[in-house]
Amino acid sequence: MRIGIPAEVHHGERRVAVVPETAARLIELGFEVSVQSGAGNGAHLSDADYEAVGCTVIPDADALWAASELVLKVRPPELDEFAQVHEVDRMREGSALICTLFPAQAGELIELLAARKATVIALDQIPRITRAQKMDVLSSMANMAGYRAVIEASNLYPGFFAGQMTAAGRSPPARVLVIGAGVAGLAAIAAARGLGAEVRAFDVRPAVKDQVKSLGASFLELEFEESGEGSGGYAKVMSEEFIAAEMALFREQAREVDIVITTALIPGKKAPILWTADMVAAMKKGSVVVDLAAEQGGNCEGTVAGEVVDQGGVRIVGYTDLASRMASTASRFFGNNIAHLLEDMGGAEFRVDFEDEVVRKATVLREGELTWPPPPDPPPEPVPEPEAEPAAPALPAPAAPAAPVAATPPGSKGLSAGNLAALGLAVLLALIGIFAPTEFIQHFTVFVLACFVGWQVIWNVTAALHTPLMSVTNAISGIIIVGGLLQAGRGEVNLAAVLGAVAIFVASINIFGGFLVTQRMLAMFKRGPGAAPAKKKRGH
Ligand code: NAI
Repeated sequence: MRIGIPAEVHHGERRVAVVPETAARLIELGFEVSVQSGAGNGAHLSDADYEAVGCTVIPDADALWAASELVLKVRPPELDEFAQVHEVDRMREGSALICTLFPAQAGELIELLAARKATVIALDQIPRITRAQKMDVLSSMANMAGYRAVIEASNLYPGFFAGQMTAAGRSPPARVLVIGAGVAGLAAIAAARGLGAEVRAFDVRPAVKDQVKSLGASFLELEFEESGEGSGGYAKVMSEEFIAAEMALFREQAREVDIVITTALIPGKKAPILWTADMVAAMKKGSVVVDLAAEQGGNCEGTVAGEVVDQGGVRIVGYTDLASRMASTASRFFGNNIAHLLEDMGGAEFRVDFEDEVVRKATVLREGELTWPPPPDPPPEPVPEPEAEPAAPALPAPAAPAAPVAATPPGSKGLSAGNLAALGLAVLLALIGIFAPTEFIQHFTVFVLACFVGWQVIWNVTAALHTPLMSVTNAISGIIIVGGLLQAGRGEVNLAAVLGAVAIFVASINIFGGFLVTQRMLAMFKRGPGAAPAKKKRGH
C-alpha cells in the first residue's frame, strides 16, 4: 500500500505527519512511502532525510495525492490558497485518509470526502482508553501545548518565575493559575513549577486533585456539590450555578495571580468563557493570560485566535499553533501516534476492523459511507453480587450432579489437596506422639506453635512500606530481633548469644533500610518544600 505525506497547507503549520524515523518504521510494516518535496521543511527535515530512509520524494502536491492510496496529514484537508485547489479535489477516488478532522464541526468537508468514496480515520476521535494512549494525538499535542504556553507566558511576563533574593532586591515567585487540569493543564503546571513559580489550579473534575497536588501545585476547591466528570475522561457541561460559583472564585484570584493559563474545554462544544473582561481588568499590569482554547472560541473574554492582544496592560495570548511552535518534536510524536495506529490496523493490510474499538470510534467514513458518530458504548455490565449462600437452593430443580455441590460447604471441592495435607499431618503427629522422646515432643510443640504465630503476625502486617514484600520482610526481621534478644540477653557468652547478636544486627539493617528506601521513593514523587534535594545524575 502506498502512503503519501503531503506538505501541510494550513497557514503557519510547521508540523509534518511523519518524520523520516517514522517513515522507516512504516516501510518496515510493508508500506511504500512517498513524501511531497519540502513537506518537512517547517520541522527542519530535508527531502534528503526522507530519501535516506527509503522514501520517494514527489515534487508537487497534485502528483503526491494522485499516487497515494493512503494519505497521512496533520490538519484536516482544506483549500490550498496558493494553488486555489481544495485538497479533497486532489484525492484519488476510494483512497484513505488519516488526519485530525473534528467531525462535529466538519459537516461540509465530510460531504466532500464522502463524494470521493474515501475512508477517513479522524485521529482526534481516538478514544482516551489505556490501550489507545500511544495513538492519542490530542494528548501528545496538548502536552506540548501546555508546556509551550508557559514558555510563551514567561517570554512576555516582565519578571522572574522563581522567587529571587539578591543584593539588588527581592522578587517574589510568579503566581500562576491554571484553569482546567487535563493533559495541557497538567503539562503547564509541571512546566511552571519547574521554572519555580507558585502554581494553583482549578478543574471541574475532582479526580484530578491528586494529580495537581503531586505536581506541587495547590488545588482550588469550590464548596459546591457537582462533579464535572463526563464520559471518556472528558468533562461535562456544568450547571449555570456552578459556573457562577467558579467565576466568583476566579474574581478573587484575579487580584492575586500574575499569569493565567486557561485550558478548559468540553469536547465538541464551544469553550466556556471563564476569565471575563472584569477579571482581566483586576489583574496587575504586566500580567499574562495564555488561552489555549483560543481555537474553540477561547476561555478568556477578549482572546483573539492566533494573536497577542494588550488589554489595559495585560497581554492575552491566543496562539493556536503552540504545538506547531515545537515542530520537530511535535512531528516526531505525531508520527509515532500514527505508526502505532497503523500497527493496530495490521500494517500494510490496513484493516478497517469495526470490532476494534479504537478503529470503530475513529472511523468517520468507510468507502464513502458515513460511520460517525459511532454507536454509544453499552452500559457497563453490573458486577455480579458475591453469593452469600451456596447457589444450589436458589436454582430450579437441581439435576443429579448438583446434589453433592449443594451438600458441600462453599469453597470446598470434596477431598481437596488441603484436606489431604491436613490428614497427612495428623497421621505424622500421631506417629511422633507414639515413638518420639518427651524432650523432642516439647521442642516440636513450641516449633509448631511458633510457626503458626509467626505466620499470623507476618501476613497480618499492614503493607505501609514501599512494597508489600518489604513490609513482610520487615515483619520477619522484627521477629528475628525478638528471637535474637532472647538469646543474646541471657547474660551468658556462648555461640547462641553471639549468633543472636549477629541476627539482631543483620535484621536491623533490613528494617532501617526498608524505611530509608520508602522515604526516598516518597520523596521522588513530591515536589516543592520537603522534597528530596535534587541529586546529580549518575552516568548511565
Ligand atoms: P482535556 O479535555 O484533557 O482538558 C480540558 C480540561 O478542562 C479537563 O480537565 C476539564 O475537566 C476541564 N474543564 C472543562 N470545563 C471546565 C470549567 N468550566 N472549569 C474548569 N475546568 C474545566 O483537553 P486537553 O487535551 O488538555 O486540551 C486543553 C485545551 O488545549 C483544548 O482546548 C485544546 O484544544 C487546546 N489545545 C490548544 C493548542 C494550541 O496550540 N493552542 C494545542 C493543543 C491543545
